[in-house]
Amino acid sequence: MRPSVYLDNAATTFPKPPEVYAAIDRFMRECGGSPGRGLYAKAVEAEEMISETRQLLAKLLGAPDASRIVLTANSTEALNLALKGYLRAGDHVVTTVLEHNAVLRPLHVLTQARGVTVSYVDCDPLGRVNPEDVARALRKETRLVACVHGSNVLGAVLDIAAVARVAHDAGIPVLVDGSQTAGTYPVDLAALGVDMFAFTGHKGLLGAPGTGGLYVAPNIDLETFKEGGTGSASESLDPPSFLPDRFEPGTPNTYGIAGLRAGVSWVLERGVERIRAHETALANQLHERLSALRGVRVLSPGAADARLGIVSFVLEHISPTEACAILSGKLGIMTRCGLHCAPLLHRRLGIEDKGSLRLSPGPFNTEEDIDLAAKAVETMIRVLYRR
Ligand code: ALA
Repeated sequence: MRPSVYLDNAATTFPKPPEVYAAIDRFMRECGGSPGRGLYAKAVEAEEMISETRQLLAKLLGAPDASRIVLTANSTEALNLALKGYLRAGDHVVTTVLEHNAVLRPLHVLTQARGVTVSYVDCDPLGRVNPEDVARALRKETRLVACVHGSNVLGAVLDIAAVARVAHDAGIPVLVDGSQTAGTYPVDLAALGVDMFAFTGHKGLLGAPGTGGLYVAPNIDLETFKEGGTGSASESLDPPSFLPDRFEPGTPNTYGIAGLRAGVSWVLERGVERIRAHETALANQLHERLSALRGVRVLSPGAADARLGIVSFVLEHISPTEACAILSGKLGIMTRCGLHCAPLLHRRLGIEDKGSLRLSPGPFNTEEDIDLAAKAVETMIRVLYRR
């Protein structure tokens, strides 16, 4: 029988814990009130549910103040809020070639709209960034260092504490894109000294798409980039000055947030360290099996480096897109191919024409899944070399 193995958890985790499905279903059927906009029990429950979600997120991420976690639609929205809310005309930003388009594109728009300038710090072939290179890229007009915590392509994890140290020594705040690390890698915002941290709900936090957030430290003032009703300070035409209301206009995605609360609770109960150990053990197994295959070049760092459960590779005689189609269509292995919205990294690796093929185990994958995936790649290669 053809297997059906989902190995695209870096894009979105699947399946979710049963508690997440149950929480969304229960909230839709039994609650469904509008938070902050009513005094009846259903509205109060919705408000309390969101407040509890913020508390759980603060606990998980080590955020000193839960009210400074702004809930957004995803990390793309969080990063847009951070970059567009913070950067002004003439500012310089230091970022890295590892970044996702969720950072690169808003920055590019800001170069055109506000004359912001950007320096892209290089990484080594395994995606490792030297914090000294970040220090060297700083200028007197630098106002922000924006960098990813864990690469969505290679799985390499950056030493954010060291990056924050060099930036803070120069009086510059740090924005971290934690899309891949929230829920999959230990994060302690207070200890890391991060000023803004963007995350999404549908990956390592095991919630539904349409949820995410931005932690904003008290030293950071942001302009709003969307305005509207908040159910608070309604007499004023100005958006509220206090967080989270200032950045959360409009009725929120309560169903999604109910799922996020359940996902974060699950992660807290299981423990991030245990999840990380499971995913990286599976990635190590994959790394070893794939590296041994003829014509395969594994791009991701191995067990010796700080890394996530992500293994990307290229093949000698077949494009990642063709391989991805064969794996999913004929062999039942679901993966992701292409540039993974990280064009500068693929250019840095010299593979911007075809991209890479990525396998990313999640908390519910097993060693058997990895064995099936490795065997499927082996089968594909055997057929290719017989051509
Ligand atoms: N950014 C997500 C990925 O890496 C969607 O696949």
